[in-house]
Amino acid sequence: MLNIIRNVLGAEEIRQFRKHLDNAHWQDGINSAGSIAKNVKKNQQLDDTTEPALSLGNHILKVLSANPTFVSAALPDKIYPPKFNRYKENETYGPHIDGSLMQIPGTTQVIRTDLSATLFLTEPDEYEGGELTIETQYGTQTVKLSAGDMVLYPSTSLHHVSPVTKGARIASFFWIQSMVKDIQQRETLYNLDQSVQKLTLQLGSSHQEVVNLSGIYHNLIRQWATPS
Ligand code: NI
Repeated sequence: MLNIIRNVLGAEEIRQFRKHLDNAHWQDGINSAGSIAKNVKKNQQLDDTTEPALSLGNHILKVLSANPTFVSAALPDKIYPPKFNRYKENETYGPHIDGSLMQIPGTTQVIRTDLSATLFLTEPDEYEGGELTIETQYGTQTVKLSAGDMVLYPSTSLHHVSPVTKGARIASFFWIQSMVKDIQQRETLYNLDQSVQKLTLQLGSSHQEVVNLSGIYHNLIRQWATPS
């Protein structure tokens, strides 16, 4: 399943992000590509270990920890510090699957990539091309989101970024190790939680069936979640 989470960042936050990102020092993305990705990757990235990547990344982490849709869909255990990339004219990232284990820069900590996230930081009308296409178990899906919107998808998915033919596409991307490793279990929990939330609005949180279903949700989490 692919989750689109709208308005992770608001208009003012996007304006601040862009002020920093438009003036940042962008490096060749090939520096951080694995041996297979090197053949298909042509874009630019920020140095993760310096400003503005550090502050902007921390801001994204803070905002996400308070986003109920993100928390429900990802059940995050560890999140890789957000990275930033830019695709200008003729830049692209061909079909690939993200690496399964990622070492968090400057630490010995390794995370398993269960979910991949792309947070769009440019508006769709600022560039042509640059769509993110993801092969999901339900077929191929293509996304090109508004600035501030994010897509979350299983890291097991083959995906690519189409060539940008005009303008520039800036995004943040990162990976999540989930407390629930299994995709089906994670999706079941997400669907159940969404239904409980809707029923709570209709019936109130003290309705007996809402209390029962909410209890079932937590009992499933108890069985399936393995926080590190
Ligand atoms: Ni990727």
